[in-house]
Amino acid sequence: MSLAASDTQSSPHSSVPPWWRQAVVYQIYPRSFADANGDGLGDLAGITGRIDYLADLGVEAVWLSPFYPSALADGGYDVADYRDVDPRLGTLGDFDAMLAALHARDIKIIVDIVPNHSSNLHEWFQEAVAAGRGAPERERYIFREGSGPDGAEPPTDWVSTFGGPAWTRVADGQWYLHNFAPEQPDFNWDHPDVREDFLTTLRFWSDRGVDGFRIDVAHMLTKDLTEPLPSRDELALIPVDGNHPLLDRDDVHDIYAQWRSVFNSYTPPRTAVAEAWVERSRIPLYARPESLGQSFNFDLLLADFDAAQFLQVVTDNLELAARSGSSSTWVLSNHDVVRHPTRYGLPRPERLAGGGPAVRHGETWLRSRGTDPVLDAERGRRRAAAATMFLLGLPGSAYLYQGEELGLHEVVEIDATERQDPHFFRTAGHDIGRDGCRVPLPWQVSGPSLGFGTGDAAPHLPQPEWMADYAVERQQDDPESMLSLYRTALALRAQWQTSEALEWVESGRPDVLSFRRPNGWRVVTNFGQKPYRLDEGPIALSSTADVGPDDGVVAAESTVWIAPQG
Ligand code: GLC
Repeated sequence: MSLAASDTQSSPHSSVPPWWRQAVVYQIYPRSFADANGDGLGDLAGITGRIDYLADLGVEAVWLSPFYPSALADGGYDVADYRDVDPRLGTLGDFDAMLAALHARDIKIIVDIVPNHSSNLHEWFQEAVAAGRGAPERERYIFREGSGPDGAEPPTDWVSTFGGPAWTRVADGQWYLHNFAPEQPDFNWDHPDVREDFLTTLRFWSDRGVDGFRIDVAHMLTKDLTEPLPSRDELALIPVDGNHPLLDRDDVHDIYAQWRSVFNSYTPPRTAVAEAWVERSRIPLYARPESLGQSFNFDLLLADFDAAQFLQVVTDNLELAARSGSSSTWVLSNHDVVRHPTRYGLPRPERLAGGGPAVRHGETWLRSRGTDPVLDAERGRRRAAAATMFLLGLPGSAYLYQGEELGLHEVVEIDATERQDPHFFRTAGHDIGRDGCRVPLPWQVSGPSLGFGTGDAAPHLPQPEWMADYAVERQQDDPESMLSLYRTALALRAQWQTSEALEWVESGRPDVLSFRRPNGWRVVTNFGQKPYRLDEGPIALSSTADVGPDDGVVAAESTVWIAPQG
């Protein structure tokens, strides 16, 4: 395995970089990965049962989306208890067994921490509602009197991220703030109990042996809710420069400085990565070693399959990483966005039907497997393979989302009655939501849930028939499958891993990007339609089977790797 699999952490006295700087991290959405008890919902034992698969794939760490007790109002991002496992997904004993099995195969584990809001079923919120207006229990959340006659209108006209009002009224007439679904009340981070409790949670999972944390909406925790509160229009005019009432406030880093001292009290230090949707120049604040240490960059989620855009994204983010002293992160898919083969297989104008925290699916996505616009699934797959191999060659860590190694497309044929995402419901279906990338994985070509579950139970989101074509069983022995490409690429990456520098090589064509890593490992991506003739070889790996190692060309919309010399 690579250097990154080493247990050694960097310290001022060590020259070995910490593992996370260039790790390949595989995101597991636990409810949709593998279902060991056959109830239609993925579980922790399902993950433990698939560790050989993860090890064969060659990932160095897994990041688990929330597996905590939850009413699933937002797919588990509504956490009712931060220090337990949802009984439908297993027990703490199952967690320990999974962690031990992952570590035994040299795979690290990152868990998701959701600090901006809890579930409305969290005991603190239940207590707050029961205690009544003015009670100290209400202070852990954000309760306010309403506006208008009898306070019957919300305190402000703010809109939640999922659509609809950001305030909900409780029986005694007060309103509470929720930046997401009503089942996700925002915590009051000015309250010492909240601060203390999250430190306890971080220690709880660190003590159990987790290697790191992914911090959900890391830029939203602290707020300045001094009255009078601004209206929605006024809010929109306030610059997001560290003093905005709701977003990306400088004082959020006081929290992360405390968290950092917890992380650093362990050997090796625990790592953290911020999900922070902030202005680019502010990303280094989260990625600093004294804050969370690393931050996602989501630019590739928003970029077209286009050489100029990819070049800009890489240049910008390497510069940002250098500014904070962290390494960059590269992401093409996750549980919030349309899978990248589908994004790349749709005509350009339809590719993005929105923006914001999630790349919104919009109405066009409903029709994307129908007639208008037509999804070119094969082209999407081809571009996805090329983009993935480009990304895997870059310095920094690569975050892969479960199922992308199978080349899975977004599932759009989910009936409204079977949808789960609050985004869909709170926009009255105008925004199709994120269920399409969360459909349980196909492991086998047949069976009631394509091998996802052990029993006859239907998977919690329906799998369309075409998913069988993408099953692991179908791909695992096919050298030309997407799965084989990922396995080979990850094995070579581990073998070739090198220091974090990158040198662009002039390609002579605007639609071809070429770069070299310090040990000579070279990556060439042809974003265009005409084959590109190489000036060196041989090709060690190509994202398409169209060309052989000695053909000396990079086919249209493909990437090749040329092995390090010597
Ligand atoms: C993050 C998660 C998303 C969730 C939201 C609220 O953006 O990635 O899935 O809905 O936070 O917790």
